[in-house]
Amino acid sequence: MLEALAALEKEGQEALKALREESELPVWYREFLGRKGKLTDLLRGLGALSPEERPKAGQRANEVKTALEEAFATRQTEIKNAAMEASLASGGLDITLPGRPVSPGHLHLSTHTLRRIREIFAEMGFQVYDSPEVETDENNFELLNIPPYHPARDMWDTFWVNEQVVMRTHTSPGQIRCMRENHPHPIRVILPGKCYRYEQITPRSEHQFYQVEGLAIGHNIRITDLIGTMREFARKMHGEERRLRIRSSYFPFTEPSIEIDMDCILCVGKGCRVCKHTGWLEVAGAGMVHPVVLRNGGYDPEEWSGFAFGMGVERPAMLHHGIEDIRFFYNNDLRFLQQF
Ligand code: FA5
Repeated sequence: MLEALAALEKEGQEALKALREESELPVWYREFLGRKGKLTDLLRGLGALSPEERPKAGQRANEVKTALEEAFATRQTEIKNAAMEASLASGGLDITLPGRPVSPGHLHLSTHTLRRIREIFAEMGFQVYDSPEVETDENNFELLNIPPYHPARDMWDTFWVNEQVVMRTHTSPGQIRCMRENHPHPIRVILPGKCYRYEQITPRSEHQFYQVEGLAIGHNIRITDLIGTMREFARKMHGEERRLRIRSSYFPFTEPSIEIDMDCILCVGKGCRVCKHTGWLEVAGAGMVHPVVLRNGGYDPEEWSGFAFGMGVERPAMLHHGIEDIRFFYNNDLRFLQQF
């Protein structure tokens, strides 16, 4: 057995040296080290040896196996390197060939929609004010007239960073930042950005989504200015024929508060999953800025008034493009994204 192992090792090493092509490597491996190869064949004879001979032969068989495997790896590298050098020397690599074109990609549907919203409000004289996604509890709630333990907090389930810091649940805290920075001057801004809510994901609700806040502060601003602005926006964004529905509502930071619905383009008012079978889709909350909030922003409510609104971005885009599920915006499926 020991002699047969030595002979196999010698034969294997010589056969390896004779290999020239990469394609011959697997053939050699199968012949010598494969499951049905020569070494496996020899090992089958171990059982026939006497108990004294067996350990020695087993140990030697392992040594032969390791030696052949190492030799194989070395020869494999040699053959691959030689092939690479031969290819370079023969000019087989043409570095003047044009590269494969890189697909340029395009803007995400949310970005498109945000840009269109910005354009429309810019035409109405609104500037853009940027405010952060990670907010203090004070700005996100307290200064918006929602003190700790106020039941209105239940309207927004929240991702807390720590006890004082939250992922903003709406773009409204930007109102406070903007007012504090600009008082005592009139304001006409929109505040676009991401919001986060710890809530159940459904065809119309995500746990992250965009909102565009609007804020106008001045003298003699009335709720009719707010409604007129929203109608003009809906007309420009979604077409002349769009219908709005104004419902009274409640937000702690506006008084009075309203909710603005638009007729559902998807089902043309018949009722579908997206509009919860009502024919209407809520697109924005709005109202006249609450005196407490005006004061927190540095404006005297006896002298100043203002309106504010907060609208979703994905939901109007869903209506516009006939998208039935908000989850498509965030699951990065190119088959969806490439359609816009
Ligand atoms: C608010 O967030 C208020 N801050 C709006 C506001 C601003 C009222 C200023 C008064 C003055 P609401 O939770 O209703 O309100 O959200 C406003 C809009 O954001 C909704 O109409 C909807 O279009 C969108 N939205 C809300 N939650 C989600 C969600 N989970 N997924 C997608 N869009 C959402």
